[in-house]
Amino acid sequence: MKKIAVLNFKGGTGKTSTVVNLGHGLAMRGKKVLVVDTDPQGSASYNLGNQSANTLYEVIVKNLPLTKAITTVRKNLDLIPGSDHLYPLELKMAILPEKEQIFSRVLSQIKNYDYVIVDCGPGINLINQNVLLYADEIIIPVSMEYLSLVGVKQLLKNIKIINKIFGKEIRICKVVPTFVDHRNKKTQNVLESLQKVFPSKISNEIRTCVSLSEAPGYKISIFEYDKNSRGAEDYSKLVDGVLKDGKEKTR
Ligand SMILES: Nc1ncnc2c1ncn2[C@@H]1O[C@H](COP(=O)(O)OP(=O)(O)O)[C@@H](O)[C@H]1O
Ligand SMILES: [Mg+2]
Repeated sequence: MKKIAVLNFKGGTGKTSTVVNLGHGLAMRGKKVLVVDTDPQGSASYNLGNQSANTLYEVIVKNLPLTKAITTVRKNLDLIPGSDHLYPLELKMAILPEKEQIFSRVLSQIKNYDYVIVDCGPGINLINQNVLLYADEIIIPVSMEYLSLVGVKQLLKNIKIINKIFGKEIRICKVVPTFVDHRNKKTQNVLESLQKVFPSKISNEIRTCVSLSEAPGYKISIFEYDKNSRGAEDYSKLVDGVLKDGKEKTR
């Protein structure tokens, strides 16, 4: 089972779109996938048409059994939803013992999936620290903006700190260039910077695509909204890359 966090400390870099479309893409290829939404905005849950009111708040604070917080949203695709209940969760967790390891403890019961993919809100906070301690690998979507690179630098610094303090080795699975538009000079500049920092980690590009911004409004993935779009083509390639990465690693 692969535990992948999709994280960049900057907002609006395509994290949620990557979680939803990578998650659904893997599920469509027959992999068993669980999406965990840890963003209080609950965008991934909305995008997947979630109907359940239970979140990790109910599990951690109200002692709801974890299995009751898991809801099936598509064939092969389950979800632990996120909502604004996660704001008070953060406050409650801050006074608990081993506060950075709560997600690891609670989510350790999860076993029967090929992929657990965690959507994260932006920022350096206790929830994201918990996610970093739970996940084995991270996928970093980077939009073609200077500030998105700043978010990556902060993230790398935090990964180093967490690896050192908690004796972990979080692996960077992929760095995903998002909102790519080669007509734009910024795109070239940001891609060049990424190539310098992560020469072997950069995935295929996710181009700017109107359908990708429209699909969430209909509570569906890009594969359901417009399977012939550039967005579907690009996310399908990312699914290929993640599946291939798994095979190379186990060799
Ligand atoms: N490649 C893309 N092209 C066009 N719009 C996109 C693309 N990726 C994401 N979006 C849209 O941009 C907004 C921010 O993306 P989102 O995935 O929610 O980012 P984050 O989770 O990092 O905040 C959303 O409205 C989303 O639908
Ligand atoms: Mg998001």
